[in-house]
Amino acid sequence: MKGVILAGGTGSRLYPLTSVTNKHLLPVYNKPMIFYPLELLREAGIKDILVVSGGENISDFLKLLGSGRQYDVNLTYKVQDGSGGIPVALSLAKDFIGDDKFVAILGDNIMDGSIRGYVESFGKSGAGAKILLKKVDDPHRYGLAEVRNGKVVGMQEKPAEPKSDLAICGIYLLDKKAFGIIPKLKPSKRAELEITEVLQHYVDNNDLEYEIFEGFWIDAGTFDALHTASKFMASKKA
Ligand code: DAU
Repeated sequence: MKGVILAGGTGSRLYPLTSVTNKHLLPVYNKPMIFYPLELLREAGIKDILVVSGGENISDFLKLLGSGRQYDVNLTYKVQDGSGGIPVALSLAKDFIGDDKFVAILGDNIMDGSIRGYVESFGKSGAGAKILLKKVDDPHRYGLAEVRNGKVVGMQEKPAEPKSDLAICGIYLLDKKAFGIIPKLKPSKRAELEITEVLQHYVDNNDLEYEIFEGFWIDAGTFDALHTASKFMASKKA
């Protein structure tokens, strides 16, 4: 299976830290943020990885990661023009992925724990998509999955009135049908295409499975979360 790390977007919630650099190059304790999703994929046996980022920063990723050989992975790069949303960045992976199932991860998602078991079970499963969920105290900040009788029945993206407290972690195990769904999407209220709408298509076709992620997970896209992620990684080293 191949992997995709989505590292575009504006990082506006982290201004002014992101005014001259990309969010995914900021430090999380002792490493640039992007090292965490990269290491997570590698640990799961995923070595062919596409990094998607904006044109302003792609050369910085190349400088940092190069061919990937130093990190025991094979890296390919793609430029996303603008920041039209996660599905827009994902659509750039179509040719890289080809016909296989794949794993896409948001570059600001820090997970501690292995995803190998989830990846292997998805590889064998008949489902076209798999998501990982985590119970949270502040559901309005995330994409949410409504689960009934062990099945995901609906999705919401950062709703004012959450129907669930199960956040959808920023790691998506998908098949190539995702690339057929993305061109049909319409921009949301925040003028972006939304990944939850891609996932909703899989739900509607009874083609999505989920598991609860057992382990530390954080979306490091805000000051407080970035700080928490650094503290967590520092405490692990202690
Ligand atoms: O962290 C999990 C959450 O991430 C999910 O629960 C939500 O469903 C999902 O929409 C996403 O929400 P965020 O508001 O945190 O997404 P954000 O706009 O911060 O983008 C997350 C990552 O996606 C970012 O680190 C880089 C990548 N991205 C984003 C955009 C908008 C791109 O590569 N290109 C883009 O145009």
